[in-house]
Amino acid sequence: KKVVLAYSGGLDTSVIVPWLIENYGCEVVCYTADIGQGEELSGLPAKAKASGASKIYIEDLKEEFARDYLMPLLKSGAIYERKYLLGTSIARPLIAYHLVKTAHKEGADAIAHGCTGKGNDQVRFELTAMALDPRLKVIAPWREWNIRSREDALAYAQSHNIPVSSTLKSIYSRDKNLWHLSHEGGLLEDPWNEPEESMYQMSNSPLNAPDQPETITLDFEKGIPSRLNGNKMPIHELIVALNEIGGKHAIGRVDLVENRLVGMKSHGVYETPGGTILLAAHQELEGLCLDRDTLHFKEIIAHRYAELVYNGQWFTPLREALDEFINKTQETVTGTVKLKLYKGNIIVAGRTSPESLYREDFATFGQDDVYNQKDAQGFITLFGLPMKVQALRKIHKKQP
Ligand code: ARG
Ligand code: SIN
Repeated sequence: KKVVLAYSGGLDTSVIVPWLIENYGCEVVCYTADIGQGEELSGLPAKAKASGASKIYIEDLKEEFARDYLMPLLKSGAIYERKYLLGTSIARPLIAYHLVKTAHKEGADAIAHGCTGKGNDQVRFELTAMALDPRLKVIAPWREWNIRSREDALAYAQSHNIPVSSTLKSIYSRDKNLWHLSHEGGLLEDPWNEPEESMYQMSNSPLNAPDQPETITLDFEKGIPSRLNGNKMPIHELIVALNEIGGKHAIGRVDLVENRLVGMKSHGVYETPGGTILLAAHQELEGLCLDRDTLHFKEIIAHRYAELVYNGQWFTPLREALDEFINKTQETVTGTVKLKLYKGNIIVAGRTSPESLYREDFATFGQDDVYNQKDAQGFITLFGLPMKVQALRKIHKKQP
């Protein structure tokens, strides 16, 4: 008889409050996670009350989001379908975890969300709830009601005296947090359309970016960024600072036709300025600090990790096991990376580490006394032996 609703204050979730009351005769408690979406949070308590909610929780989860979700993601190197840095995907298990927690605190028997029945987000919310408390009922109004469009939703809001202010303007479906801003729908529904410049909110166009490159340094400790330009700061603040700098230099725009878990392809545009810089820097440092076999194996893991995150399988034994592996690899990923940001480009300008496996004395084109070039001859002879045997077989077949 009590439902905890993942509430954003947008049109959809505002309409869901009276709809739940009307159709389930329940008390509705709203839950809003502050994960860095910023301005969207102001005025929420009044809005929720006006929609008929009995209570609203607004919790600042920025630190937890950065520490427990974004950092494992960064260390994994996961990228979905070569481009997407998973900004929406990674936030869903965190929000769902807190919905479940709030449901327990409130003695609620169900949770509800405003995801459509066509997307990935419904899966991520519900898999998390299933993993954490399968006894909780999940209500997904979009899969039940006969509201089919924005117009329907607006009409429903009007007939129930629900305030819906500025949400009207946007034709895009957006999702914003510390890590990224996503855009879907509207003009993007035709993948032949070039995104309009006015759609972007976190980043400059390369055309408007500064004409001078900006050099930054990032320090990492065991795979975690700790300092920006020498200044120590908490991770979530470091990400905010990098979003600012990266956005200014047009870093981190992605335009992608992707495969949703539910089977269809969809077209999205993502802005991930800080995350793009962090991934690039982290990768540079790994190049210096990880041995070849570990690095190569980790690339395979990254691919699988991206699928897990995209598909909402965060609270699974496999993800936990992969994290153990990844954390082991990060023990020596400590050092500093220097980058130049310039009109959408990240140009590596240097890297250094006390754990570096790079040895100038081995690699030099000049004189050295640690590497005997004669050793290479025997190595090549045996390394190439299978190829030689193949070739001999072909030659013997041709001339019997
Ligand atoms: N396609 C992306 C993903 O599945 C972004 C989803 C955006 N979600 C939203 N509610 N606007 O992760
Ligand atoms: C939605 O359909 O609710 C948003 C997009 C997605 O979940 O993929």
